[in-house]
Amino acid sequence: MNNKKEILKEFGSKEITQTHLDRLEKIAIDKGMTLHPFLKNGLFFSHRDLDPILDYYEQKKPFYLYTGRGPSSNSLHIGHLVPFMMTKYLQDLFQVPTIIQITDDEKYYQSQDHSIKDYKNLKYFQDCALENIKDIISVGFNPDLTFILQNTKGIQLLYPTFIKINKVINLNQVLKVFGFDKDDNMGKVSFPTLQIAPSFSQTFESLFDLSSEIKIKDIRCLIPCAIDQDPYFRLTRDISSKLGSHKPSLIHSGFLSSLFGMNEKMSSSALNPNSVIFLSDSPKTVKKKINKYCFSGGQETIEEHRLKGANVEVDISCHYMKYLMEDNQKYLDLVRKYQSGELLTGEIKKECIEMINQILEKIQKKRKELDDNPHKILEFTQKKILKFTF
Ligand code: TYM
Repeated sequence: MNNKKEILKEFGSKEITQTHLDRLEKIAIDKGMTLHPFLKNGLFFSHRDLDPILDYYEQKKPFYLYTGRGPSSNSLHIGHLVPFMMTKYLQDLFQVPTIIQITDDEKYYQSQDHSIKDYKNLKYFQDCALENIKDIISVGFNPDLTFILQNTKGIQLLYPTFIKINKVINLNQVLKVFGFDKDDNMGKVSFPTLQIAPSFSQTFESLFDLSSEIKIKDIRCLIPCAIDQDPYFRLTRDISSKLGSHKPSLIHSGFLSSLFGMNEKMSSSALNPNSVIFLSDSPKTVKKKINKYCFSGGQETIEEHRLKGANVEVDISCHYMKYLMEDNQKYLDLVRKYQSGELLTGEIKKECIEMINQILEKIQKKRKELDDNPHKILEFTQKKILKFTF
C-alpha cells in the first residue's frame, strides 16, 4: 500500500481525493452514519468516475452497486471482507439495489493445471459457492435490496447481454488485457464477458423497478472491488458506448496483507493456510495464528523495544486494526503507544485478536442462523423486484 501512486499510474485510475471523502462524509452524516475507516484510512484509494455517481445521488437519479466473488474455497477470508463490507456500507448509505455475482465457473476454468483433486469437479466450485454466499449474506446485506446471482444457476439473466458484449469485443482486446496463450481453454477466454455483463443495467431490466420517466440505460453502476479486478472493467468501459450504456464507475481498494507480511496479499490459494484468517476460524485458531505467525514490527528484546519502539508500517496487527477497527481513535492511541515502545507486541496482538474475533463472532452467528434456516438464503438468491427508493 506504500506504492499507491505506482498503482494509480499502472492502472490509469484516479486517486480518491479529500473532496470525494467530504462529499461521502456529508451524505453519511445526513444518514446518521460516519465515514467508513476503509475510506478514512485510505484502503479504498482509487476510482473511475466516482463523481457522476455522487452527482446522481444528489440529483436523485438511479444507480446500483455491483460486486462479486469467484469461489475457490469453502470459506471467505478477512481480505474478502474488504469489498463486501464496503458494498454493504454503500448500500446502507445510498439505499440502492445491489447485485452480487458468484462466478462459480471462473476458478473452474482457471484450475486446469491445478494439482488439488477437487479442482477437477465443477460441483466442488458450486458447493463452495453456497458456502461463500452464506458468508456474504452474513456481512449484513439488506435482502430487499440485494440480489445474489450465481452464474451456473442464473445464466438466463446474463445471456442476452453476454451475446451483445461478445459481438462487440474482439479477440485482440481480450488478449491485450488478459494475455491468454494458445493452450488456454475457451472458458478462460469467454469468461470476462460474464463478469462484464452485470455492469450494464439492461441485464437487470426484469428486476429493476422503474418509473415511466427512467430509461433502463440511464441507470448507472458503481463497482466496489480490490484493484486486481480492474482489468475486467477497463475492458467494460472501453465497449460501453457500443452497448449504448454508461461506463460503470469503480472504487478500488488495495489488499489486506497475509499474516506473513506486507508484501504478500491475503489469498485463499496461499500454500500455507497459516497466512490466512478464514471467516470460519475459531477464536482459538485466530489467537494461535496471530500470536504465532502475524508479522511483528516490534524489536528483538524488551529493552530495545522500550528504547526504539515498534515499526508500525510493517506490523501486520497494526495493518489489520488500521482498517478493521471501528473505533479509529482507539487504533490511533494503540499505534502511538506501540510506536513509542510503551506497548509491547504481545499487547498489540491481544487487541488485534480481540477485534478479529469480535468481527468473526458476529458473522459466524448470522451464518449459523442461515444454516438453521436455509430458506432465508432464497431471500437473496431468488429473482425479485429491486426498488430505487429516492
Ligand atoms: P475473488 O473471489 O478473487 O475476490 C472477491 C473480492 O475480494 C477482493 N479481494 C481482496 N480484497 C482485499 N484484500 C485481499 N487480500 C483480497 N483478496 C481478494 C477481490 O478484489 C474481489 O473484489 N472475478 C472475481 C469475482 C467477481 C467480481 C465481480 C469481483 C465477479 N464479478 C465484480 C468484483 C466485482 C473474483 O474472482 O474475486
